Amino acid sequence: MPYEGTQCPQLILVFGGPGAGKGTQASLLGQLLGVPHISSGDLLREHQRHDTQNVMSSGELLPDDLVTRVVLARLEQPDAARGAILDGFPRTVAQARTLDSWLEQHGGVLRAAFYLDVPPDELVARIVGRQESSHRRDDNAAVAERRGEIFNREMPPILEHYAAHGQLQRLDGAQSVDRIQAQIIEALGSPAQPCTHD
Ligand code: AP5
Repeated sequence: MPYEGTQCPQLILVFGGPGAGKGTQASLLGQLLGVPHISSGDLLREHQRHDTQNVMSSGELLPDDLVTRVVLARLEQPDAARGAILDGFPRTVAQARTLDSWLEQHGGVLRAAFYLDVPPDELVARIVGRQESSHRRDDNAAVAERRGEIFNREMPPILEHYAAHGQLQRLDGAQSVDRIQAQIIEALGSPAQPCTHD
């Protein structure tokens, strides 16, 4: 499982609907493996433009070129040289293809992709439940439903993309945080992958 000795970026992807626990699991895993947790949503929330904030508040997706530029720039920071845990990216097939090209250009590898499967009602309940503490304008029942619809529209081909390469692991995201993290760690049991340019 360790990243020691890795000479190329090794990425782990965490997928799931809005509120599925992507950030929770990616953050724990990043701390354990000593690589950054990169959340496209967090990066975009730091982007202070009004038009960006308005789109995010509505639950719609931002344009692929903007999101890709922001995420890839973050991946090229020195602390991500050995890899990162990506949460919320890719979210469209175009983003997945761009990430494939980026990995190829950087001699990197996709170590694993995890899909946290959580029933829709539970997703909305979690988002509404954290509304007071998150201060996110998209954390309310109506926008959470819209985020769920977009997720259901965009995600199947992306999951198929990674499943077709044998890289996708589906986990029951309704379990406890600790139980899910333990399953992720168990699934990552093998040593780091060889770099594609080795
Ligand atoms: P983003 O920030 O990615 O939001 P999201 O996908 O809706 O997911 P969240 O961050 O709300 O939830 P999460 O799955 O990380 O769950 P968390 O761990 O926080 O995206 C926001 C917006 O940005 C998008 O709508 C879009 O506009 C834009 N955007 C982002 N990426 C984009 C992209 N690639 N392309 C285009 N646009 C993009 O947990 C949620 C809650 O549940 C917490 O309270 C947590 O404590 C709790 N919880 C976690 N795990 C469990 C558990 N196992 N059991 C019980 N409770 C749990």
